[in-house]
Amino acid sequence: MILEAKNITAVYGESQILWGMDLQVKPASITTIMGRNGVGKTTFLKTVIGLLQSQEGTLLFNAKNITTLPPHKRAKLGIGYVPQGREIIPKLTVYENLKLGLESTTEKTIPEDEIYELFPILKEFRKRLGGNLSGGQQQQLAIARAITGRPKLLLLDEPTEGIQPSISQEIARILLRLKEEKGISILLVEQKIDFAKSITDYYYFMNRGRVVAESEAAKISIEEINSYNSI
Ligand SMILES: Nc1ncnc2c1ncn2[C@@H]1O[C@H](COP(=O)(O)OP(=O)(O)O)[C@@H](O)[C@H]1O
Ligand SMILES: [Mg+2]
Repeated sequence: MILEAKNITAVYGESQILWGMDLQVKPASITTIMGRNGVGKTTFLKTVIGLLQSQEGTLLFNAKNITTLPPHKRAKLGIGYVPQGREIIPKLTVYENLKLGLESTTEKTIPEDEIYELFPILKEFRKRLGGNLSGGQQQQLAIARAITGRPKLLLLDEPTEGIQPSISQEIARILLRLKEEKGISILLVEQKIDFAKSITDYYYFMNRGRVVAESEAAKISIEEINSYNSI
């Protein structure tokens, strides 16, 4: 397993949000977490990248215990993150936003050919301000910035939120290429079933800070997916 989370908990002040999450990601696979708003999906991703500290449990990344490592050390080990809402810096250019991805590496330069081959629009727009891109273009930039950090495991938090279907399909194709051509493992948080279904190998369903069901993609029907998502 590239990621093994065992009995992960999380609190914001007095309120407990995660109640013992168990989840695994296989190498070079796409794993999707589904569940309604507020069940703790984003909170879980934040415990994986180290923005929140689990009170109990263990996180293993490639069998290494990262439970108490700070975020920058987890990033250096190869955990990349595409946050919900993208978090592009609006006053920086596309190129400058991409450069931020280098912070988690020892590299000095962006692998521009590789990035622009995956995201041709970013080459064309490399001197534009991030804030002047459309939502879909910003999402592509957020993924490209994470790839610049050379992740082995890429976490994406609702990458299709507020994005038109044609761009969502483009993003699905890119995520499949990252898995197949670069062997990157992906942990995706997603609420759109069509998008998840088109790329995922494995599902976890969350409710109230816990995993309530899990399945290989090939062994679950749309009806079952719908029923877990409407708990
Ligand atoms: N910074 C925060 N401070 C306090 N409560 C928060 C904070 N962020 C999220 N929450 C609460 O934690 C719960 C889980 O939120 P979140 O992980 O964002 O859910 P999801 O991503 O599944 O929609 C929600 O009840 C939310 O209101
Ligand atoms: Mg969320």
